[in-house]
Amino acid sequence: MQEFFEFGLGGRVLYKAGLARELGQVVADLGAQRVFVVADKGIVGAGLLQPVLDGLAGHAEVVGTLDDVPPNSSSSVVMAGAEAARAAGADLILAVGGGSPIDTAKGIRLLATFGGAVPDYEGYNVIASRLMPMIAVPTTAGTGSEVTSIAVILDEAENRKISLVSRYLYPDVAILDPELSLSLPPRLTAATGMDALSHAIETYVSTENNPFSDSLALAAIDLIATHLRDAVQQGNNIEARGQMMIASCMAGIACSNSLFGVVHAIAHSIGALYHVHHGTLNAIILPYGMQFNSVVAPERYVRIARAMGVNVGGRSDEEVIADGVSAVRTLAVECGMPTRLREVEVPEGALPELAALSSVEPAIFNNPRVSTEEELLELLRTMW
Ligand SMILES: [Fe+2]
Repeated sequence: MQEFFEFGLGGRVLYKAGLARELGQVVADLGAQRVFVVADKGIVGAGLLQPVLDGLAGHAEVVGTLDDVPPNSSSSVVMAGAEAARAAGADLILAVGGGSPIDTAKGIRLLATFGGAVPDYEGYNVIASRLMPMIAVPTTAGTGSEVTSIAVILDEAENRKISLVSRYLYPDVAILDPELSLSLPPRLTAATGMDALSHAIETYVSTENNPFSDSLALAAIDLIATHLRDAVQQGNNIEARGQMMIASCMAGIACSNSLFGVVHAIAHSIGALYHVHHGTLNAIILPYGMQFNSVVAPERYVRIARAMGVNVGGRSDEEVIADGVSAVRTLAVECGMPTRLREVEVPEGALPELAALSSVEPAIFNNPRVSTEEELLELLRTMW
């Protein structure tokens, strides 16, 4: 165990089917009245935004909306949003959507509070003090961004993902309403669910693991192994949707405290160069990353295998770990995810550049196995 660790609890988490339609009181509790809404076209198209807006009526005024956040949001989108929020005199940012709108909203509250540009705040604890309040309403069960101190935003100028990490980035309130994820198509349900699983597994083996994160990570792995198939195959299963939202949130709290590893280092590097869904990338990379790391943390991979439902009785650690990796791969396949980078059109010729990028991506520094660029290239080749 670590000699020293810090575990931050962030903000409030509220869970209830239908809760998004009752947000007015939550906004009032934060002392806010002028709401700036951040969402994407998919949310608007699925009819998810209007009930949220209706729920604000009588409590707060919507003074501005940015409702076309792109899938891999960028520093210029954040900048434009912050200018609009400021000009409108907003006193609260409300994000509705998946990881991209929520991370964008974190950037907007940062720049609307302090000015400047996204790269000015890159790294750990660069933000000096409290930001404008924010409520996060996830519509997917995957990123956990509604409860994390992290925002990942693409910088177009340098074509790389910038990570901002600060305890001031925690949204004040996370609203978990499984009704909002009922219309999410199977493929996105699968990809976001595998993202949540990668958070739980990566953070459990990270160099920053601690007993508080461990308990949340293992519980999240168990819930995802139990409910992701149903959420993908029976989209209207509110029980499975609710359990996945809880699992994703638990994994988010864990990884906000204990960070990531090689899977996210590679996924972020590929995501900066090719527009492949982050969760789909993690679904591909995760089993290979587990295999790669299991040699240095075998006892942790035995616990992961148990949480995935693998029977351990009277069997060697090697067998149990191999079954744990297979259980993750099988889950991804049964949920319709690809298993190779070539299937998502990452060219073989890009692997050396991706290895170089991954070797300096911030997530790699918390990976349990120290990884050279050469080892990362070898790993990338196995998954291509
Ligand atoms: Fe992720």
